[in-house]
Amino acid sequence: MSVTALVSVPVTLSVFVLGPPLPAGRAPSPAPLYNPSMGSGLWSGRRALVTGASSGIGAALARRLAEERAVLVLSGRDAGALDASAGGCRAVGAQVTAVAGDLTEARTIAALGEAVANLGGLDLLVHNAGVTMNARFEEVELAVLRRIMEINFFSAVALTKEVLPHLVAARGHIAVVSSLIGLVGVPTRTAYAASKHALHGFFASLRVELRDAGVGVTIVCPGYVDTPMRSRALKGDGTPQGFDQAAGRATLTADQVARATLEAAARGRRLVLLGRETRLARLLSLLAPPLLDRLLARTAK
Ligand SMILES: NC(=O)c1ccc[n+]([C@@H]2O[C@H](COP(=O)([O-])OP(=O)(O)OC[C@H]3O[C@@H](n4cnc5c(N)ncnc54)[C@H](OP(=O)(O)O)[C@@H]3O)[C@@H](O)[C@H]2O)c1
Repeated sequence: MSVTALVSVPVTLSVFVLGPPLPAGRAPSPAPLYNPSMGSGLWSGRRALVTGASSGIGAALARRLAEERAVLVLSGRDAGALDASAGGCRAVGAQVTAVAGDLTEARTIAALGEAVANLGGLDLLVHNAGVTMNARFEEVELAVLRRIMEINFFSAVALTKEVLPHLVAARGHIAVVSSLIGLVGVPTRTAYAASKHALHGFFASLRVELRDAGVGVTIVCPGYVDTPMRSRALKGDGTPQGFDQAAGRATLTADQVARATLEAAARGRRLVLLGRETRLARLLSLLAPPLLDRLLARTAK
């Protein structure tokens, strides 16, 4: 093997595992250019909409944006929890509009569109709301599989369509909270994996469509994060399982994911892998997929 070929192996691998590097010049998105010296002020004064802001990663995103003095529209289903999250943001001085409602309902999407229109534009749209599952395919009712696709995938599509003119007008940015399971298939997560893979296909295509309009897309793939999501994971009959099967594991905090997401979006990064298990799964899926399947099958037992 020639020296050039040898040198190109790690470069090629890092591109496959981490996604392509940032271009040398301007970031692909016109979102605020990343400047480490700005510290916590990356989204200062920007208008941002965060879904799933009533809990976990979304609440952490809202809090960080509030601390940066962004102007916020927050969405969540549980009105009490959303109010508490919005109240925390207002307490640090942020201007917040809270819109409670189920994202699978057209009236919630319309209400969010109205809230964004009232702000006169949108600089950052974060698709974060989501629900997971924990059941083998043969045990899951079809209606539950459809519901997961509706929440995780179609609601993000519908909301994007609703606010797109405002994003384009502001040459804004879209951040999508996907998952390690957006990159590889995992047993007992069929519909969750399908919904997250669908987000990748949809937003990768949209990224190219919106290139000339100056709207960028960042997809973030965390591994295990310490939030209530796994306790709320749907069983085959659609009821929450009520326990966290990863309790006691090393996990990322919601705030770590929020911080990385906002920084990556500000830099206009395309794909962000968070957590060791995510990088390992991505690497194995590219280099040794049968080995990855064996490992995943063993962990599911
Ligand atoms: N936790 C992890 O280990 C992990 C790992 C990788 C990726 N993720 C992704 O991170 C994102 C956030 O999850 P999380 O861990 O922060 O979970 P979480 O604490 O359970 O929060 C989920 C959020 O989504 C909202 N939501 C769910 N269904 C909704 C619906 N039909 N309409 C409107 N809002 C809805 C929830 O609202 P209410 O609470 O008000 O109902 C909540 O605010 C998800 O997309 C998830 O797939 C999580």
